[in-house]
Amino acid sequence: MNAAAPARSGEALVTLHDIRKTYNAGLPTEAEVLHGISLQLAHGEFAALIGPSGSGKSTLLNVLGLLERASAGSYTLAGTPVQGLDDDGLTRMRRETLGFVFQFHHLLPAFSALENVTLPALARDGRITPAVRERGRSLLAAVGLAAAMERKPQQLSGGMQQRVAIARALVLQPALVLADEPTGNLDTASADEVFVLLRRMHAEVGTSFLIVTHDPRLAARCDRVVELIDGRVARDESQQVAPPAIPPAIPPAVPPAPQPAAASGAV
Ligand SMILES: Nc1ncnc2c1ncn2[C@@H]1O[C@H](COP(=O)(O)OP(=O)(O)O)[C@@H](O)[C@H]1O
Ligand SMILES: [Mg+2]
Repeated sequence: MNAAAPARSGEALVTLHDIRKTYNAGLPTEAEVLHGISLQLAHGEFAALIGPSGSGKSTLLNVLGLLERASAGSYTLAGTPVQGLDDDGLTRMRRETLGFVFQFHHLLPAFSALENVTLPALARDGRITPAVRERGRSLLAAVGLAAAMERKPQQLSGGMQQRVAIARALVLQPALVLADEPTGNLDTASADEVFVLLRRMHAEVGTSFLIVTHDPRLAARCDRVVELIDGRVARDESQQVAPPAIPPAIPPAVPPAPQPAAASGAV
């Protein structure tokens, strides 16, 4: 697995400028829930988004994820000003650049873990190539599910299902993974496992992560914490965290690259 998006120094992966979101515009129930968010995310960041319930975290994630359009402001993703894109352009950009992990995994029950992981390729390319299937296998091994690839979601624990969802989010090598309370539905031990896994995939794959969490223990283990209160950024701080403990039993994520014949034996 190579880094999805090589770090380009000086160029942010995400730049939001004065983003506003109004629901029910023109109706008596009209409400602005994001009041001018300006924020940058660099390539390779691992950041938490925290804040009280109703503060706009999911709305902001939906705007970042190109699932909803901002009502005002500008958003540049991987160099592209997204407000200039039509709906097809947004869909393409979403499939090429972003991965998602939700609180509820949304795995399709009729499909195996491996099929679920490779489904995004079907949506993007209309087919699943052997290379994508191989990457799916490699990711499932990396999340500790080498022995469970053919199992259906209901044959997996909640934590395992969420690990499948993480592998699925990474299968198309997105530049940014957006995770909305990915551990919110798990017991403490499984939540810890999933979080360690997110950190490990970040270290191995090089994708940026923005993780909404209610859990201050998990936020404390992210490199940066952005706090929303009432639709505004109330705090945005970088922090030093200890490197994650890496469980030794999980097999390596990267299959050995084929060596060109001429290079064999060379260092
Ligand atoms: N589709 C919607 N229509 C109207 N209001 C919404 C919609 N989605 C969210 N809201 C409102 O926007 C505010 C922020 O919600 P949300 O982004 O879900 O917050 P959080 O994820 O931080 O709990 C809340 O007051 C919520 O009721
Ligand atoms: Mg939410």
